[in-house]
Amino acid sequence: MNRPVGGTVIDHIGELVTHGEQGVLHDAALVLDGDLIAWVGPSAEAPPTDRRVDVEGRAVIPGFVDSHAHLVFAGDRTAEFEARMKGESYASGGIRTTVAATRGASDETLERGVARLVAEMQRQGTTSLEIKSGYGLCVETEARSLAIARRFTDDTTFLGAHVVPSGADPTAYVDLVTGAMLEAAAPHARWIDAFCEQGAFDADQARTVLEAGRAAGLRGRLHANQLTYGPGVELACELDLVAVDHCTFLSDADVDALAASGTIATLLPGVEFSTRQPWPDARRLLDAGVTVALASDCNPGSSFTSSVPFCIALAVRDMGMTPAEALWAATAGGARALERNDVGVLTVGARADFVILDAPSHVHLSYRPGVPLVAQTWVGGLVVHDAGLKIR
Ligand code: NIG
Ligand code: FE
Repeated sequence: MNRPVGGTVIDHIGELVTHGEQGVLHDAALVLDGDLIAWVGPSAEAPPTDRRVDVEGRAVIPGFVDSHAHLVFAGDRTAEFEARMKGESYASGGIRTTVAATRGASDETLERGVARLVAEMQRQGTTSLEIKSGYGLCVETEARSLAIARRFTDDTTFLGAHVVPSGADPTAYVDLVTGAMLEAAAPHARWIDAFCEQGAFDADQARTVLEAGRAAGLRGRLHANQLTYGPGVELACELDLVAVDHCTFLSDADVDALAASGTIATLLPGVEFSTRQPWPDARRLLDAGVTVALASDCNPGSSFTSSVPFCIALAVRDMGMTPAEALWAATAGGARALERNDVGVLTVGARADFVILDAPSHVHLSYRPGVPLVAQTWVGGLVVHDAGLKIR
């Protein structure tokens, strides 16, 4: 038996979701050694450790891996949301409102905004996240947005191709994104993204941006098929991108292309909630054999929620996912969408990133929507959020 020196045992776990070979365990324990998981198994067989945390029958799940978020921004779009709830429809042009405010904000203001949202995410069980630029749309503010995002995560994404900024010529703007802007952004970014949609970029423009990003050493992902049917999903599969996000309007050919590719479909139901669009059909994708991830798309326009539990509840209630499928999509699925194999699972050697729920089972994430069920969030073996339930 593995005998960690100086480890911590998380004991008396009523339900432990591992997403590994051990599946779901009951009366289980997790042993941590530093920032990693050293042992997983039945409580009665846990090896001795220096420290013991008794969770008194609560459920423990992998921390959420939120693979799609736009956190670097300034300004407010409350009025746009209120108008939508009265019947206005969402339009990509709202992005330009946030661009104006973001360009005018200092680094300190932008960083404070990101820190506030990251803390909010941790309180709701998120332990890994991706952060995009895309509200600068000029060389200076795209680069500084990414430099700020890098202080919070390695998974930073250059989204200069979010929309064409006011007054710019589309062809000249794509040249800028693939030229000077990419050069300034690439040192701070791991990923390249584009918004392939009517009112944003067409397939040729998106392809140009993604190929330039790839040539600069960035990995590709794409926003596609959010507002209408279109060529984005097939483009993502053809370019073998890691993930294509939104996937709300899918033809049969799109589903076939996803099923035949390794590209992950990331569904973002906070958007459909906040824009009153139809729900993405997770069941159709899963039944076709597509790998599905769930993420918040936290942004001030289309989805101002930082809550992955809320997205899980929507996915179970309205998108045909089982609670177990939705949890997998929001943890292991998000990890795959970020090409990470050390998070989203609770197996030996994985990072000790997990959530103690104040509930007996992961099903409560959707059975008890809107209830703050996260008792503690652990990142790399350390508690980053404690709801004060006296777990010790
Ligand atoms: O993922 N779709 C494009 N971008 C964001 C929305 C941005 C905004 O409205 O500010 C999204 O939904
Ligand atoms: Fe987005």
